[in-house]
Amino acid sequence: MTDKNDNNGTSSVMQAADNSPLLQVSDLRTYFFTREGTVKAVDGVSFTVRKGEVRGIVGESGCGKSMTAMSILRLIDKPGRIVSGEVLFKGQNLRKMSRREMTAIRGKHISVIFQEPRSSLNPVFKVGNQLVEVLRIHKGGKRKAQREEAVELLREVGIPDPGRRISNYPHEMSGGMAQRVMIAMGMACAPDLLIADEPTTALDVTIQAQVLDLIRQLRDDHRMAVILITHDMGIVAEMADIVTVMYAGASVEEAETEALFENPLHPYTQGLIASIPVMGEVKERLDVIPGTVPDLIDMPPGCRFAPRCRARVEHGLTQCEIEEPHMIEAEPGHSVRCWLYEGEKTS
Ligand SMILES: Nc1ncnc2c1ncn2[C@@H]1O[C@H](COP(=O)(O)OP(=O)(O)O)[C@@H](O)[C@H]1O
Ligand code: SF4
Ligand SMILES: [Mg+2]
Repeated sequence: MTDKNDNNGTSSVMQAADNSPLLQVSDLRTYFFTREGTVKAVDGVSFTVRKGEVRGIVGESGCGKSMTAMSILRLIDKPGRIVSGEVLFKGQNLRKMSRREMTAIRGKHISVIFQEPRSSLNPVFKVGNQLVEVLRIHKGGKRKAQREEAVELLREVGIPDPGRRISNYPHEMSGGMAQRVMIAMGMACAPDLLIADEPTTALDVTIQAQVLDLIRQLRDDHRMAVILITHDMGIVAEMADIVTVMYAGASVEEAETEALFENPLHPYTQGLIASIPVMGEVKERLDVIPGTVPDLIDMPPGCRFAPRCRARVEHGLTQCEIEEPHMIEAEPGHSVRCWLYEGEKTS
């Protein structure tokens, strides 16, 4: 694997600051045209990812996180379709690329790992052969060298005794080990961007921490950017440099992680942070946001969060249910989609 460090000594955040965005997603919308109606799975998501940065995308299950990732990768199948928005990767519009160019991008520049590692591994082949195959496609070269590199990759992702483990079949590995193999496969092409969609949700808590440490380590060593998709605010707090909060298909808040946790602006974000389980008081805290994510076919008019929003009632806001708020920069580098803040600016 090549080391992409080209600016020794400075932190990845510093390095990122003087670079233009690696990925720029603007007002992305992906709808599924089903018999029951139009499912607006992604309906107004914008964010950027800079080199070496971990961008957290957080929100409850069903709010469009995975479909956002699949849209970036152009892996949306019928009846789904990206209906509008722009996805620029290194300045190139991914939406305009041919299938072939897109396959090359997915192979060489953007890797993805999913929640269920075994679902992406072929059960009938040894993990080593699968890794060698990835290396063969990306780099070519001699099989012996590919095998050595595969062992090296397995070592780098923390698989003990990789020379032996390379001959295992997926079912002979634990979930944590299989996820490490998936990460090794993702790293094989030395990607600029790793999209990790709930990478630890299927794993035990201790293994979760180890896999997150590994992703962080790889980011540091290779200056790789990461989009970390999760429903878990605890993981965001620990891993992300900058966070996008999604609700019912749309981004509703964006800030650097510290600012988001210190001063969450959107009532939904405030609820998510308040629901982070704290040892000993888990029960009382879980139910902070009443209700559930709305049906994405039948979205309420106005603010999508209105039916669940206590702040709306407390502040006696009437426009919430009539008109959708816009994403506005309420504080430098901190944006929110909520009439509480837009109202302040316009009145
Ligand atoms: N093939 C499909 N047909 C219809 N709706 C779909 C399809 N795939 C996903 N969706 C819908 O898109 C929405 C967002 O899903 P997803 O991005 O997987 O959410 P998350 O990853 O945040 O849990 C969900 O309401 C889901 O039902
Ligand atoms: S716009 Fe209104 S309903 Fe929506 S989050 Fe803000 S206060 Fe709540
Ligand atoms: Mg998902």
